[in-house]
Amino acid sequence: MSEPLLHLDGVEVAYHRAVTAVQGVSLKVPEGGVVALLGTNGAGKTTTLRAISGFIGLDDARVTDGAIRFAGARIENQPPHRLTARGIALVPERSKVFENLTVEENLQAVVPRAGADHRRLKAAVYALFPALAPLRGREAGYLSGGERQMLAIGSALACAPRRTAAVVGAASCSCVEARARYNTGRFPRAPSGYAHTRAASRHRRCDPGE
Ligand SMILES: Nc1ncnc2c1ncn2[C@@H]1O[C@H](COP(=O)(O)OP(=O)(O)O)[C@@H](O)[C@H]1O
Ligand SMILES: [Mg+2]
Repeated sequence: MSEPLLHLDGVEVAYHRAVTAVQGVSLKVPEGGVVALLGTNGAGKTTTLRAISGFIGLDDARVTDGAIRFAGARIENQPPHRLTARGIALVPERSKVFENLTVEENLQAVVPRAGADHRRLKAAVYALFPALAPLRGREAGYLSGGERQMLAIGSALACAPRRTAAVVGAASCSCVEARARYNTGRFPRAPSGYAHTRAASRHRRCDPGE
């Protein structure tokens, strides 16, 4: 079997060098695959996604054990801009969009992967979410929750990520719509299937540097 595009192997993350938030998280996402992380509140879904995308660094957290490989290369504890350049994009839960910028400006603010055609990517986002097209000039702060979600997903897609998606928790309507359209092939190559995993979290104190 070929190497998965994204591979987490026994990943452990600690916040503030003191609190272990997730332990032993392992998952594989093949090219074009979708993995759903299911878990109760506090189980570590967000932490796992932020570890993959590098944003845990902003929360004073680090991967303290295990490995994250993307396209065969080790990527744990790299900053988000390096990982975006490799083709990883995060759709955050909160603070999804720049509220003072218009929809168009939000998409324009994205720096896509090197070599990607930004104009074509933006056009693809409006094709994926036609509801956003008439809202191009509207400030994102005045969008509905669902419209913001579409813009957040669109902004991530405008980064030209490699075709891997990890969907967390229950899918919102816009996620479902995006998946349906994704499967129609408007974005190249549809995901091939689902796998499910569960982020187990154990909370324990650990010594700094452990
Ligand atoms: N910034 C942070 N500082 C310290 N602990 C945090 C921080 N963010 C999350 N945690 C802790 O990490 C654990 C996993 O949280 P999280 O990944 O947000 O879970 P989920 O997304 O599954 O609800 C929780 O115990 C939470 O309290
Ligand atoms: Mg969460």
